[in-house]
Amino acid sequence: MGNQQNIKRIALLTSGGDSPGMNAGIRAVVRTAIFNNLKVTGVMNGFSGLLKGQYIEMEPHSVSKIISNGGTILKSSRCPEFIKAEARKQAYETMRRNQIDALVVLGGDGSFRGAYELFKEFNFPVIGIPCTIDNDIFGTDFTIGFDTAVNTAVGAIDKLRDTADSHNMVFFVEVMGRHSGFIAVNTAISAGAEEMLLPETKTKVEEICHYLVNLRRSNKTSGIIVVAEGDEEGGAVEVARKVKEILPEYQTRITTLGHIQRGGSPTANDRVLASLLGHAAVNGLLEGKTGVMAGRIHNQIVFTPLEEAFSKRNKIDQSWIEISRVISM
Ligand code: F6P
Repeated sequence: MGNQQNIKRIALLTSGGDSPGMNAGIRAVVRTAIFNNLKVTGVMNGFSGLLKGQYIEMEPHSVSKIISNGGTILKSSRCPEFIKAEARKQAYETMRRNQIDALVVLGGDGSFRGAYELFKEFNFPVIGIPCTIDNDIFGTDFTIGFDTAVNTAVGAIDKLRDTADSHNMVFFVEVMGRHSGFIAVNTAISAGAEEMLLPETKTKVEEICHYLVNLRRSNKTSGIIVVAEGDEEGGAVEVARKVKEILPEYQTRITTLGHIQRGGSPTANDRVLASLLGHAAVNGLLEGKTGVMAGRIHNQIVFTPLEEAFSKRNKIDQSWIEISRVISM
């Protein structure tokens, strides 16, 4: 493998909301880099640690036995200071003082914006690896952590379904996704939910009520409504309140799954994706790819400019919502 950039030391950090599989990604980056005779610096606490110089030396054993763990051994943070040019200059200078030649950023859209600025302002070699449970990054079919988060939500709803059925209740289950309905739509289909509310669609509370009444007419006495936290009608609490106003005789309950979806042991799919993308990111840097994100589309590794990765969106296939309704009747 050539090293066109003359890179001797890379740094890596995890940033933004953590996602299951980040550790598998860290492991792949560290081991691929060492395999290619590079030195590796781990940056603690995301971009905030980058500018403060919170650096650790990483060896192959630093990443032993982490592939199955959720969270991130490098810890993560959101770093609003990085919006300021002085903070980015400080980060750049701190990296240069520590002989760091390139940076790998594991994170979501906000993290990629920071990485892109370093690339643009200082021509510093950077590469991104898409890690977020929200699956809202362009340039990859799936982001690392999404599969685990959906499986966690589905497991929870399977349990709620038992009690919903026993007591003839309608559960409003809130899943994460402030701006994105990917978790909601995949969870709803997998859990056989009766309805879903997503930020990308304009489902009205009246429609939900109409649907619930029809279900009851067809002898279905319980139901699961999946609500993405960022839906324009509000989260599960608000949607349940509005439904109750129209259908006061319905027994309703609310469950907010929250940060449970961000934790736990990553699924095999997330571990594979993280391993392949971590490996691809280091090799990409060595081949001179910079200012890009390593993703996977149709089983192929693809490098997408960071600017596109954070500014464009994969679209939810609206037909899935209709399909879900048909098969959950
Ligand atoms: O990781 C993405 C995400 O889970 C969003 O879906 C959610 O809105 C957000 O993070 C919440 O994160 P925090 O509580 O860390 O601000």
